[in-house]
Amino acid sequence: MKIAISGKGGVGKTTIMAIIARELKKLGKDVLIIDADPSPHMAETLGITESERITPIADMTKLLAERSEKTPGSPFYQLNPQVNDLLEEFMIEKDGMKLMVLGAIQKAEGGCACPESHVLRKMLKKMLLTADEVVLLDMEAGVEHLGRGTVAGVDHLLIVVIPSKSSIRTALKIKKLAGEVQIPNISFVGNLVQDEEDKNFLEEGLDVRPIAFFPDSSAVRKAERNETPVINIDDQLEDAPLKLIKYFFP
Ligand SMILES: Nc1ncnc2c1ncn2[C@@H]1O[C@H](COP(=O)(O)OP(=O)(O)OP(=O)(O)O)[C@@H](O)[C@H]1O
Ligand SMILES: [Mg+2]
Repeated sequence: MKIAISGKGGVGKTTIMAIIARELKKLGKDVLIIDADPSPHMAETLGITESERITPIADMTKLLAERSEKTPGSPFYQLNPQVNDLLEEFMIEKDGMKLMVLGAIQKAEGGCACPESHVLRKMLKKMLLTADEVVLLDMEAGVEHLGRGTVAGVDHLLIVVIPSKSSIRTALKIKKLAGEVQIPNISFVGNLVQDEEDKNFLEEGLDVRPIAFFPDSSAVRKAERNETPVINIDDQLEDAPLKLIKYFFP
């Protein structure tokens, strides 16, 4: 299963993705997280301190380009069926969870994340997963990546939304674009939800009830302030992580 997470900036995408990864791991799943945010942040969230050892996928595009130069006529970004072997080089493993990063993208000179996005898109489409393998894709904020079709190969898109008008607006825009690239399952998850009023506000604004609601958690905030991995917190977060996992693996 391939699950991507999206939403407005700062709504809690990376935090929720890390917690999903932890729960899936507990369930015995083989978890690969891909940090596709140009300002990667997942490693810290997972407590991976050796993140500088990770070769970003951006470098894979260089590698593929080099290979194709050496092999005249071979399609530029063709990934072979043994893509999984190649991918091992770009992963770091911690506590049984694997992490890949897309790499920081230089956009200042009008550059586009296109080559990296292209490789990521191909990778997602080509990766053949067993029932116990889950790929989690942490996306950059907003809708730009949907325009690039990066997430077109995922089975589920989880849109994080907080109880605010602007967050709902972005979430609906993401849902629309995700529908256009034909992602089969699109659902919402609430974050920083305090009470029933917040839940109803989200349900009314989105026209559907989010599948889970994460509370505003002092444990999460403390973890961030103390720079300790959020996956180590004790807080059950009102069973929201369990609800999410049950949704994906009923
Ligand atoms: N349920 C929560 N309770 C308390 N704090 C939270 C919660 N979820 C996220 N946060 C805090 O909100 C901030 C933003 O979270 P996070 O980095 O996960 O968001 P993001 O959507 O990935 O942001 P970006 O758009 O920059 O990638 C962090 O400081 C995080 O600790
Ligand atoms: Mg993030």
